[in-house]
Amino acid sequence: MITDTSTNRYADDWNAYSAAWDGQYGSRYRHLGDEWCDDGTAERAHERRVMGLVEPWLRPDTRALEIGPGGGKWTVRLAPRVHALIAFDVAEAMLDRTQRRCRAEGLSNVSFVLGDGNGLARVADASIDLAFSYDVFVHIALEDTVVYIDDLLRVLAPDGVAIVHHAVAETAASWDRIESHNDWYRDRSHTLGQYYYHSREGLRRAYERAGFEIVETWDSYCTSVFTVRKRADSMVPRMERALRQAAVAATPEALAAAAEDVARALDDARERLAPLVDSLAGTTPGLKRYAILQRMRRLVRG
Ligand SMILES: C[S@@+](CC[C@H](N)C(=O)[O-])C[C@H]1O[C@@H](n2cnc3c(N)ncnc32)[C@H](O)[C@@H]1O
Repeated sequence: MITDTSTNRYADDWNAYSAAWDGQYGSRYRHLGDEWCDDGTAERAHERRVMGLVEPWLRPDTRALEIGPGGGKWTVRLAPRVHALIAFDVAEAMLDRTQRRCRAEGLSNVSFVLGDGNGLARVADASIDLAFSYDVFVHIALEDTVVYIDDLLRVLAPDGVAIVHHAVAETAASWDRIESHNDWYRDRSHTLGQYYYHSREGLRRAYERAGFEIVETWDSYCTSVFTVRKRADSMVPRMERALRQAAVAATPEALAAAAEDVARALDDARERLAPLVDSLAGTTPGLKRYAILQRMRRLVRG
């Protein structure tokens, strides 16, 4: 388990990337991050398309979280459009870069949280309306990704949305990239730039299991951007949270409290189901009955 930034390989790799960046790219690019998604168009059309996915969720009262800001490329686009933004990263050097860039642009609504690679510690429960992460989870192993997915559920407010970019193995471009990067990757001197290719179906299961509803997925190159929502009217997030607490409970008291939470989640669901069950009485096959059944399904399955 990753618990400490000094032994976190993600932090070590990305701090090292930042340290080497000026020498490697500084003469060609202004900010760290400009070297990625450079599709050769003056207006960086690919990035505009990614912003198009986020636009519908940006509101003046939105409390946003960005995971893995790097040099702050997305941060400076998102922050002016929301109430507040937390930039969360495992690498201190990346947060320093993002902070300097935000200051230079006069952005005062961005705060900075250094993570330990083991979820979103220090981000409060139910405090986020929109979480965004681009070009980050492509580099994170599935075992670590799942910890973030579970924790996203914790930090999102009911009906909160997460937009997360992953590498997927299903496209022809995935296999082209694997082929063209394999020699480089297999000489074992790098981990940076390594992609963790998952299956779209596997990611869908991970999100749904955590209690998310998949709103849409958008495929580009060898990646897929998942837009997922924590449904306010589903019991699944609450149950998953209680199960997760049980999984990590280190004392008998903590385990008993988690078991109590599981039972309470069930009681709450039963209470919320009861009026729906009552309202079925007297209905005939048709739209009204379907609507009730669908609300019941959403409550139980998300
Ligand atoms: C390829 S850069 C992408 C930066 C930025 N999102 C962009 O598109 O320009 C990856 C970023 O994710 C951060 N990162 C890597 N592993 C992480 C982890 N396990 N938890 C949080 N951030 C991580 C890195 O420090 C870096 O800032």
